[in-house]
Amino acid sequence: MARMSSPPGESRASLAHSLVLVIDDNEAVRTALEVLFCLHGAQLLGAASPPEGLALLQREAVDLVIQDMNFRREATAGEEGVALFHAIRQEHPDVPIVLLTAWTHLETAVDLVKAGAADYIAKPWDDERLLTTVRNLLELRRARLEAATLRSRRRRARESLAGRFDLRGAIYESDAMHTLVSVAAQIAHADVPVLITGPNGAGKEVLADIIQANSSVRTGPYVKVNLGALPHDLMEAELFGTEAGAFTGARSRIGRFEAASGGTLFLDELANLEPPGQAKLLRVLQTGEFERLGSSITRRAPVRLVAATNTDLRAAIRAGAFREDLYYRLNVIELEVPPLARRPEDIVPLARHFLEPNRALSSEAEYALARYPWPGNVRELRNVIRRACLLSEAPLIDVGALNLPQVEPAGDTEAGFLDRLGLEKTLERNGGNVSRAARELGLSRQALYRRMEKLGLKANDGR
Ligand SMILES: Nc1ncnc2c1ncn2[C@@H]1O[C@H](COP(=O)(O)OP(=O)(O)OP(=O)(O)O)[C@@H](O)[C@H]1O
Ligand SMILES: [Mg+2]
Repeated sequence: MARMSSPPGESRASLAHSLVLVIDDNEAVRTALEVLFCLHGAQLLGAASPPEGLALLQREAVDLVIQDMNFRREATAGEEGVALFHAIRQEHPDVPIVLLTAWTHLETAVDLVKAGAADYIAKPWDDERLLTTVRNLLELRRARLEAATLRSRRRRARESLAGRFDLRGAIYESDAMHTLVSVAAQIAHADVPVLITGPNGAGKEVLADIIQANSSVRTGPYVKVNLGALPHDLMEAELFGTEAGAFTGARSRIGRFEAASGGTLFLDELANLEPPGQAKLLRVLQTGEFERLGSSITRRAPVRLVAATNTDLRAAIRAGAFREDLYYRLNVIELEVPPLARRPEDIVPLARHFLEPNRALSSEAEYALARYPWPGNVRELRNVIRRACLLSEAPLIDVGALNLPQVEPAGDTEAGFLDRLGLEKTLERNGGNVSRAARELGLSRQALYRRMEKLGLKANDGR
């Protein structure tokens, strides 16, 4: 049958420019479908027999197949259709297939549809229903191809970065983390202070480690000071050192600045530094100079300073708790690590990374992890996975072993991603079979399609 081109200006969104192959021995069916699809902007190829259809599939970039189940007048059992379906699946696993089937053979069709990326329509068909089914299958295929392309593009970008820099084994897939990590790696060699902000356990120290590992002073000392763990009255002594007799019982001792000389000093929980310590820190940053406590000898210690805080320093400035001039000295480069819930793409890769060897997560478990809001961020995720590995005997860790608190999923912006992920997972579990996925979700197929549409799994006009 000849190939017809679509009439200009009359195409409906997701069908436009798609190439649909109809394999049906009944010429009336082929013609009817040709008219229908042509009216909606798709191009249609017709084949009267399975061999003819398979040959066309080899030659043309077919986006979707509509196939009959019986190809001879006397045939009614549908075996030819089954064989054709498997032959197409074998050679073209990604091409969606719509089975046109008599009511009497719905069972067979349902079984086939379980093999994935397929759906069925009972003859005589309803045009609107058929079009919707076709559109949705095309859309699903497009979304999957797009997701796969995006994933591989991201992977290539990560690999290229990891090839050029030492990323300290940081795990991420989100664009947000990729940007942060690549900025950290690329500014590492410059001798400017870096301020890393972000909530608890989000990975601030991981970024600090990346900066250190790629800096020009990476072979020098790397000293980490957690200002949150130091009593206030010892902080200055710890940072700048003491001279014997500076206060009762004080011995002569170098501070962390001197210890880090020629290397990197990581000041964690910076907001805990009191005003006198802040003033001293500002001076070191401005002049490179400081004195040990109880000493009048001015010393210099060239260090690369990286500071981190989970406090909102601007608010601390407004509250008079943090010096504004120090803030502006420190934040020449500010890296803001988003909470884990704001980069849900990172959750599952991190979870898999934290698993013990020879352990895996069930897809329900992964879905639950992706939906959980992670108030304790990556650290909490690591703890959950470790606990689950300890408590679960089975190699496959299921959702129950995670013991996640019952909470509402993370904020609005991520809802779409999460729903999409859930839908993808459900479809994956069901081999791409929309009907079974719908059943699992307790939805009708049409309702599932509507949800897919809502999630943007629907093509834009004139794609
Ligand atoms: N992208 C990542 N890849 C691998 N491990 C990570 C990543 N981000 C965080 N982690 C791990 O999660 C834990 C918490 O990260 P990190 O200590 O860097 O957080 P933080 O932001 O410094 O937290 P805090 O504010 O509590 O100091 C660490 O064990 C760290 O190794
Ligand atoms: Mg930290």
